[in-house]
Amino acid sequence: MSGINIGGWIQMWEKNATPFHSSDVNMFLKRFYEKWIGDKQNLKIFVPLCGKSVDMRWLLDQGHRVIGLEASSIAVADFMEENNFEHSTEAYASGEVVKTKDGRCVIYKGDLFEFNSDIEGGFDAIWDRGSLVAIGPDQREKYIQLMKSLLAPHGQYLIETYYNDDPTYQGPPFKIDPECLCSLLDGCFTSEVLLEKNNLDPEIARYCGPLSKRKRLITLCIFLVNHNS
Ligand SMILES: C[S@@+](CC[C@H](N)C(=O)[O-])C[C@H]1O[C@@H](n2cnc3c(N)ncnc32)[C@H](O)[C@@H]1O
Repeated sequence: MSGINIGGWIQMWEKNATPFHSSDVNMFLKRFYEKWIGDKQNLKIFVPLCGKSVDMRWLLDQGHRVIGLEASSIAVADFMEENNFEHSTEAYASGEVVKTKDGRCVIYKGDLFEFNSDIEGGFDAIWDRGSLVAIGPDQREKYIQLMKSLLAPHGQYLIETYYNDDPTYQGPPFKIDPECLCSLLDGCFTSEVLLEKNNLDPEIARYCGPLSKRKRLITLCIFLVNHNS
């Protein structure tokens, strides 16, 4: 099953139709930050398919460097503007890269599948919210191989996914249950389930927002993933 192509995502930003964007910092990022990062400082954190996520600002505020990747110029420009970041733009192999004046936040504009560790790699951590689940299932293996090549050997990869009981709902977001994630990661990474909770829990129902109103059982999952070497 294929996902939305890049043009489709760019159009969503042009039409201001971005229901995935939240003005609140992701609650699971905050909850599992300690387990993911501990007390480490000044890490280089990758946020694939970052949109204009406020999580990036929060990670910067925790003392880290943040490197995002996003196809939409509107999302990148909004992020810089909404955070009052002075920035500059230069070319890179697959598009343009926008950097804040202090160099602590860098966002590559372009297609994730044209990004690689020669452009930038060795990430200490990856925050994956709305990213793996946004990719069409036919591209997942390629996606996981890419994350493997980008994450440093000691790196920690935090992923949010979900699944539901609605066989008619195709996505995106594309559902991924723990079994499916384990088989995807098999051979590359080991994973630990930090959370698997459904929307019968009011906190999860609130978090799922409009998706929850479809009266379906939605289960949120958070995984902590490491290289399996
Ligand atoms: C579901 S949104 C999630 C955004 C962000 N992670 C968040 O939590 O708000 C997916 C984002 O990925 C971008 N995107 C989708 N496919 C992409 C690709 N192949 N390369 C780069 N960006 C892509 C879209 O423009 C969109 O902003």
